Amino acid sequence: MEEIDKEKLPRHIAIIMDGNGRWAKKKNLSRISGHIKGVDAVREVVTACRDLGVGVLTLYAFSMENWQRPKEEVEALMELLRDYLLKECEEMVSNNIRLSAIGRLEDLPANVRTTLEEVMKKTGSCNGMILNLALSYGGRSEILHAVREILSDFKKGKIKEEEIDLPFFSRYLWTRGLPDPDLLIRTSGEFRISNFLLYQIAYTELYLTETLWPDFNREELLKALADYQSRERRFGLTSEQINGL
Ligand code: FPP
Repeated sequence: MEEIDKEKLPRHIAIIMDGNGRWAKKKNLSRISGHIKGVDAVREVVTACRDLGVGVLTLYAFSMENWQRPKEEVEALMELLRDYLLKECEEMVSNNIRLSAIGRLEDLPANVRTTLEEVMKKTGSCNGMILNLALSYGGRSEILHAVREILSDFKKGKIKEEEIDLPFFSRYLWTRGLPDPDLLIRTSGEFRISNFLLYQIAYTELYLTETLWPDFNREELLKALADYQSRERRFGLTSEQINGL
């Protein structure tokens, strides 16, 4: 069992949950079976983060590019997502978890969107942890959306050019109000960012593991946290500056 320092936990963990398809293929199962097992991993990791005291967990559940997958797979993922939200709502409320979502939520099927909004409303006053789902999400589109909103507010005379600094820009992103991720985990041995939180991960620590998402569990999360805690985060400074030498 890994030793975790509760005082040095990441405030925000973001995860690219990859490898459901390969997990299924290895077992001669359908890709959908991989996603079903992936949902079990989601449950375990959400509970583990809540138990540990992580403030925000962002899960890359569906990218804008994922709409191009075969129709049956897209439909199955949407159904799994809705099912998860319906089943977990009570659990989220009793564990004081607030649900939020980022992405082009207007792209989601109406029933998924309605369920998502209902769960966000029901968990709206929970303050133990934020579970943030990235749905129909793309990092470049998020940045473009922010630029368009800023331009629109500028034209309306709501903002002045001098106001536009980095904290201001962050408030126009879908992640407004959330701290930037301290730790980004990607499963399944890929070394890519895949259009995830491009603006927010400027100083995020990356943890890449060969483990496929359906096999990712509490123990794997603790390994990632132990690795994270062994690093020195310098944010562009020198080691001496960080340690006050
Ligand atoms: C990547 O595996 C995974 C996805 C595109 C979907 C992730 C979705 C879930 C884990 C289930 C639904 C989510 C929630 C929050 C209930 P892949 O299919 O790209 O795997 P492969 O690269 O091995 O083919």
